[in-house]
Amino acid sequence: MNTVFKLLVIAISCSSSSLGAIENDRYYPRYHLAPPKGWMNDPNGFCIFKNEYHLFYQYNPDSGKDPGIAHWGHAKSSDLFHWVDLPIAMYPDKTYDADGVFSGSAVVDSGTMYLFYTGNVNMPNEKPDHKQVQALATSTDGITVTKYVSNPIITGADKQPDLRDPKVWKHGNYWYMVLGNSFVKDGVSLGRALLYRSSNRVDWKEVSVLHESDGSLGFMYECPDFFELDGRFVLLFSPQGIEPQGDRFKNLYQTGYIVGHFNYNDNLFTPESEFRELDFGHDFYATQTILDNLGRRLLVAWLDMWKTDYPEQSDGFTGQMTIVRTLSLTNDNKLIQKPVTEIAKARGKALYMGNAWSGKKVTLSDKAGEVFIIAPRNKNMILTIESDNIVVTVKYDYTEGTVSLNRGGNDLRRTLYRPQSKLKLKAFIDASSIELFFGEGEVTFSSRFFPTGAITVNLKDDSVAEILSVHEMKRTLYLSKDN
Ligand code: FRU
Repeated sequence: MNTVFKLLVIAISCSSSSLGAIENDRYYPRYHLAPPKGWMNDPNGFCIFKNEYHLFYQYNPDSGKDPGIAHWGHAKSSDLFHWVDLPIAMYPDKTYDADGVFSGSAVVDSGTMYLFYTGNVNMPNEKPDHKQVQALATSTDGITVTKYVSNPIITGADKQPDLRDPKVWKHGNYWYMVLGNSFVKDGVSLGRALLYRSSNRVDWKEVSVLHESDGSLGFMYECPDFFELDGRFVLLFSPQGIEPQGDRFKNLYQTGYIVGHFNYNDNLFTPESEFRELDFGHDFYATQTILDNLGRRLLVAWLDMWKTDYPEQSDGFTGQMTIVRTLSLTNDNKLIQKPVTEIAKARGKALYMGNAWSGKKVTLSDKAGEVFIIAPRNKNMILTIESDNIVVTVKYDYTEGTVSLNRGGNDLRRTLYRPQSKLKLKAFIDASSIELFFGEGEVTFSSRFFPTGAITVNLKDDSVAEILSVHEMKRTLYLSKDN
């Protein structure tokens, strides 16, 4: 059976019905997690259960064209690259989540998975027109999920209508939860992150406002996350409503972070940095992190953006996750993101290795590849990713001290970057996505693009690469072990 057909068969057989199954895999990722069919948005419930990584996600099984009414889709992996599709974990089947089992997180304690999520209910003829409560569900086998009988666990009557996306962790004898909220001050809607605490996971008390927008950070904080890293605390969130400023904040909604100090005695967070964007690409949102068994702070994001017409929608699916990344913090409070080392499991054979000059062209097999470049820091470098219908240009501009990603047209993304020594770039290309990691992961770009036909990578202008390596990447989604 050829690989493309095999993928189709597996995608269809793994799905609960064949309605709207993948019709064409021209844009379907080979090694990034995507839904077997239908719509995927935010990562949810990222956790380690019985030595396997579990990743849930916002899911509409019925259509790839719209988010529909959110379910929790579910996949697991032992290496973060070979994913097994699992049955839908949660349906919108209760009065308190009838219009969406919205985003949330997981903790594992004494062999039980605890899933915290937002139940969304729409009330079309009322004002406000929706309500969001927090709910709990558990699983002891890592597949079957049971909603808690006494849900909701947080009603937040005085914080409606936007109170969502619980991220839960344990510290000492308590469980903590950060929630995104919108509140009104002097007639203006502002975003904020609220901290709650519980000793038993079901009775929760608000203990502080971790952070609130002064107007410059928009009207709603979605998908907040809060964790200790390298001796400081990071508040990571996806604010809606930030105005673009030059090259900054050019996406519809942003994902970024504030670094500061926090102590569990007064539960106050003291910021030490401004809000910084985490990724500079076009399609990156709704991050979630976990601390894994190796002590790594792992991050995954939705490699898409709201309100974008993705051509894959007509192929029976929409959405994918980024490669999982390991986070660390610099002394000047900047997050560094590196692709997890397990990426080696998805790497195929080398297509090119050596030095290279402008004019060098390598054609990827099966539209997927990993590109690594080392180049002089005092020279411009241009790499293009080309197909019949599109040219994606990655540029290091030595004189400007910038790096940029341009998919053509008017939607350039650019940020300041000057490497200390050599210019280093890793690029992961996967049918309809590109993720760039500059240097040691100081700057990343994650974007979607939609090539028809084969993909080539090319050095352009006066570019010189002291090292250029291009590897194939394998298909790792939903394939059986012997693949
Ligand atoms: C973020 C978000 C969350 C919400 C979910 C609904 O992308 O809007 O705030 O829980 O998506 O699917």
